[in-house]
Amino acid sequence: SIINPRQFDRRTVNAIAQMAAVLEMRNVEIDKPLDGKIAITAFFEPSTRTRLSFESAVQRLDGKVLSVPDGQVTGIAKGESLADIGEMFNTYGDVVIMRHPDTNSMEEIRRNLQRPLINAGNGSGHHPTQALIDWYALLKWRPELATEHCPPERRIHLGIIGTPGSMRAVKSFLRISLMFPGAVSKITIISEMADPVGLDLTEPIEQSVIPITITNDVQKVLPDLDVLYVNSIAFLGDSYRNLDARYKLDRNSKLKPGAVIMHPLARNQELSEDLDETEHNLYFAQAAGAVFVRQAILTAVLDRLDRINGI
Ligand code: CP
Repeated sequence: SIINPRQFDRRTVNAIAQMAAVLEMRNVEIDKPLDGKIAITAFFEPSTRTRLSFESAVQRLDGKVLSVPDGQVTGIAKGESLADIGEMFNTYGDVVIMRHPDTNSMEEIRRNLQRPLINAGNGSGHHPTQALIDWYALLKWRPELATEHCPPERRIHLGIIGTPGSMRAVKSFLRISLMFPGAVSKITIISEMADPVGLDLTEPIEQSVIPITITNDVQKVLPDLDVLYVNSIAFLGDSYRNLDARYKLDRNSKLKPGAVIMHPLARNQELSEDLDETEHNLYFAQAAGAVFVRQAILTAVLDRLDRINGI
């Protein structure tokens, strides 16, 4: 199962990225670990990319998809518990991919579920497969980041706009980024919140040698960043909404030459379309890599447990 990026280490992230790169080349014979198997996609919250890229990945691996329908048509609408649903899923499918608004939902369904479970986003908890996609895009953009000995001039100053403590994609991305000392030289969290990291309350960040700085002055730090991770302003809260002019990125933003912007998408007003045709756009590459990374994840979960540490 994949529930929390805490399960990974640098070796796992690199191994998934390498497997995804092979799958993306599409010219190699690969095992089809889902041949004859059924993946259940249970999305109790809206999704475009995660659901469709997982369903595409399953089908590319010769598996079949069984989806929990949208809306008020399942037992959930009648108050059925996730634990009971997990019991049913044991005979309906071979792997379960679930998104749910409740942070405790993964633990709840696992009370009875005996099949591998992949967390596709649990409330303000985590979005671990998105973080693997993010790092796949980063490693394609700058492959030296994978090595233990990234040359100092190729190391990145990483900026993150938002509140990792309460934003699952940002939190998972931060957690994996902290596994790359020697590649990430410095992290700056750009936030309006007093305690944006927040992880120290419930999930202590592992001892990391990467220094973390916190600021609310995005314009001041922008020219020094190599990578800027942004999420939808819709998730950032009213304080950001009111300051959206300051947090909005567009062609006039003072980005460092060669710097890239990352965004898990869907975007809102925080990221102007006028950046799409610039060198700063890494967000479309993130979305494009999703199917291959999720094929690699499914392969690791179902077939190659020995090759992928910790999954
Ligand atoms: N990045 C992401 O999780 O997108 P969706 O909400 O569309 O799945």
